[in-house]
Amino acid sequence: MRALLLENVHPDAARILETAGAEVETIDRALDPRALASALAGVQLLGIRSKTEVTEAVFDEAPDLLAVGAFCIGTNQIDLGAARERGVAVFNAPFSNTRSVVELALAEIIALTRRLTLKNTAMHAGVWDKSAEAAHEVRGRRLGIVGYGNIGAQLSVLAEALGMSVYFYDTADKLALGNARRCDSLDELLAVADVVTLHVDGRAGNSGMFGAEQFARMRPGSLFLNLSRGFVVDHGALRARVESGHLAGAAIDVFPQEPAGRGDEFRSELRDLPNVILTPHIAGSTEEAQQDIGRYVAGKLRDYQFEGGTSMSVNLPHLALPPRPGGRRIAHLHRNVPGVLAKINSLLAEHKVNIDGQLLDTRGEYGYVLTDIAVDYPAAVLGSLAAMPETVRVRLLG
Ligand SMILES: NC(=O)c1ccc[n+]([C@@H]2O[C@H](COP(=O)([O-])OP(=O)(O)OC[C@H]3O[C@@H](n4cnc5c(N)ncnc54)[C@H](O)[C@@H]3O)[C@@H](O)[C@H]2O)c1
Repeated sequence: MRALLLENVHPDAARILETAGAEVETIDRALDPRALASALAGVQLLGIRSKTEVTEAVFDEAPDLLAVGAFCIGTNQIDLGAARERGVAVFNAPFSNTRSVVELALAEIIALTRRLTLKNTAMHAGVWDKSAEAAHEVRGRRLGIVGYGNIGAQLSVLAEALGMSVYFYDTADKLALGNARRCDSLDELLAVADVVTLHVDGRAGNSGMFGAEQFARMRPGSLFLNLSRGFVVDHGALRARVESGHLAGAAIDVFPQEPAGRGDEFRSELRDLPNVILTPHIAGSTEEAQQDIGRYVAGKLRDYQFEGGTSMSVNLPHLALPPRPGGRRIAHLHRNVPGVLAKINSLLAEHKVNIDGQLLDTRGEYGYVLTDIAVDYPAAVLGSLAAMPETVRVRLLG
């Protein structure tokens, strides 16, 4: 088995794949589609980050490819449909940087509540401004979390540990953790919170969800944070509310337009505002998160290669059967039409193959079935399964 890891994926990923028996080649940069296609000859597992595009043409020229690991959160750089049609599983790491985002949010809530940015700027300008005015503890203050998903929920738990009273609003029905209180509307949350922090997802309907009207409903002297997506907030409206003194401060990590590369000029109407922390989309960027991403995605590639497991795959049905040392496993990806499972099983029966265990999952037009069988099996059975018109890909594991 050969794996190709691009774009400086964390070294733990190579270690995990090598331990599993893969021959791993690493390249510290992205490859353009043409170079990528030729580098993929004989490669089963590909690891990339956000800068490598894996297009339909690349998949066409890489018949050996079994799985692509996106060692990041987003998968826009991969043609997921083309991958699925060819039976190539795609994995990413949606949760590996959750804790990093939560820690930055907490650090910023404390920094803004203590007005550290202002004190720091004054000190660097030679001003000794020793006073307690407008500096507060976070203990007892009300935190309003908008979007109670992976990040929002973890922030809720840690903020409570600091003594904050947590309120949240989510469009989905979410279990309240600890003593957190659910709000039935965004307005209800805005009316009560001393700190409002956005952790909503990037669905199209969230574009501009937080603007002049919402800032006007926030409590005077409150704080605002956005570490979710840039396009959800109207930055002109935010600037106006900070300048008017209605908001005591803000922390923004994500922007509607972000510079393409490191060192490029950052343009924003939020520059040069007092008690506003601006960070270059780094809430999830820590060495711990990179290591976790490396381990998580490499584990997914290994499990797919050896066990056929697709749990948390971005583009295939989700299945995981426990490992079965000493046995064989048939991984069968097919078009999801009525009667496929019956066909697979009657083919197995025709070849006198006994089924020791079996799991099926479907996702839209595709179905995936893992079937455990004995070590000895008639070789012709694989050919028969591959010849089924519904078959996308069939593999024998173990
Ligand atoms: N700044 C960074 O570096 C960084 C890093 C990681 C994640 N993120 C972003 O943080 C956000 C949250 O990530 P997550 O993993 O917690 O996502 P998630 O999908 O687990 O949670 C999002 C939650 O928001 C809720 N939601 C969506 N729209 C809403 C709305 N209009 N009002 C109220 N609730 C709404 C959803 O129901 C869901 O519970 C995402 O946008 C993600 O892209 C940013």
